[in-house]
Amino acid sequence: MDKQIAGLIIRPQNRAEDLEAILAINAQAFGKGRGTPAFQALRSSADDIVSLVAERQGEVIGHVFFSPVTLESEPPLGGMGLGELAVAPDWQRQGVGKALTEAGIHALRAAHCPFVIVIGVPAYYPRLGFQVGGEYGLKCQWEVPPESFMVRILDPIALGDRTGVARYRDV
Ligand SMILES: CC(C)(COP(=O)(O)OP(=O)(O)OC[C@H]1O[C@@H](n2cnc3c(N)ncnc32)[C@H](O)[C@@H]1OP(=O)(O)O)[C@@H](O)C(=O)NCCC(=O)NCCS
Repeated sequence: MDKQIAGLIIRPQNRAEDLEAILAINAQAFGKGRGTPAFQALRSSADDIVSLVAERQGEVIGHVFFSPVTLESEPPLGGMGLGELAVAPDWQRQGVGKALTEAGIHALRAAHCPFVIVIGVPAYYPRLGFQVGGEYGLKCQWEVPPESFMVRILDPIALGDRTGVARYRDV
């Protein structure tokens, strides 16, 4: 059975104070100055991103961020890229990362997003339904270990037999 923290709320990042809490969690989870700047720029440049926070008793304890990507296939296809995902150290391994990711994917499905990519820990994301992108002919725009580039296909019909590089929006 899934672990669940009592009183956990997943909601959009929509309060002025959320950003500071997110940056603090990133610094704790990834180490100061790592993982943040590119997403920070995307966050401020895009209105089609999905940014959620996990809150417990008024405290933000985790967040997930999805931004648009383009599969450079023929014809191209838009999808989303997950990243970053971070949970405050005291609250890790209690289902918060999973709850955030599932809530985000639920919103993306409702918006008819056909696929979600992630560059991340191969030991973690497969438990959230992600599979190695190369197995579907999808490539990362950067040179990363093949098993770190993963995809979760939400609409196989829309994806069809497309293959190619999945590229994040430039910042
Ligand atoms: C990775 C992270 C987002 C997962 O969120 P979480 O709320 O801790 O994870 P969940 O509770 O949903 O899932 C927990 C399970 O995932 C696995 N897991 C969690 N983090 C993992 C990691 N870094 N590597 C491998 N497995 C991991 C564990 O098996 C764990 O289950 P267990 O405690 O029964 O062994 C969180 O631990 C985190 O912020 N870590 C630091 C930053 C980071 O590595 N971000 C992701 C980079 S792509």
